[in-house]
Amino acid sequence: MWDEKYSNSQFIYGSSPNDFLRENVHHFVPEGKILCIAEGEGRNAVWLAELGFKVTAVDASEVGLAKGRALAKSKGVSVHWVHADLQDYNPGTKAWDGVVAIFAHLPPDLRSRVHADCVESLKMGGVLLLEAYTPEQLNFRTGGPTNVDWLMTPELLQNELQGLTFERLQKIEREIIEGIGHTGMGSVVQVIGRR
Ligand SMILES: C[S@@+](CC[C@H](N)C(=O)[O-])C[C@H]1O[C@@H](n2cnc3c(N)ncnc32)[C@H](O)[C@@H]1O
Repeated sequence: MWDEKYSNSQFIYGSSPNDFLRENVHHFVPEGKILCIAEGEGRNAVWLAELGFKVTAVDASEVGLAKGRALAKSKGVSVHWVHADLQDYNPGTKAWDGVVAIFAHLPPDLRSRVHADCVESLKMGGVLLLEAYTPEQLNFRTGGPTNVDWLMTPELLQNELQGLTFERLQKIEREIIEGIGHTGMGSVVQVIGRR
């Protein structure tokens, strides 16, 4: 499904980073090691690499990652691209200064496991930054999954991300103009959590 979606010559979510990441990148230690999960066409990973972070990006779509590689080349930066299903990917233990999960919507069983693994994979003091659509997004129809089980709430994330101290855990409505895939008012949950 994602390979087909990304076969479009445009970057579905644009080639600029996610707004929430852009506004909060200062939470990451400069030049730190950052893991971007479900990173798709690589817009966030490439931007972080441009800022000097050492970035690894994981996604199950080879077509998406190929676009990420091309974007990185055009910007003259390097990202470690990993083609993997998160079902099988082990992010390690105390390995990362930051983990970025932008619209990383997954089936609930896999999501809860991936979230626990992400916490475990952070170094002590490392930061997880996440933005995802909430169930209220179903009223907006401006992007995101249509299956309510794949959407996230602050309460759900507080539970799945145990081990973090939350510097931000909020649900807001905001205008999201990020490519043709996300465009218009939306309802999102935003997390900045420190291990
Ligand atoms: C909405 S896109 C978000 C892409 C990117 N984070 C961004 O903000 O532009 C969701 C991504 O999750 C990836 N994905 C979905 N299920 C996955 C899985 N089981 N393992 C790895 N990636 C997965 C898809 O390939 C897709 O790129």
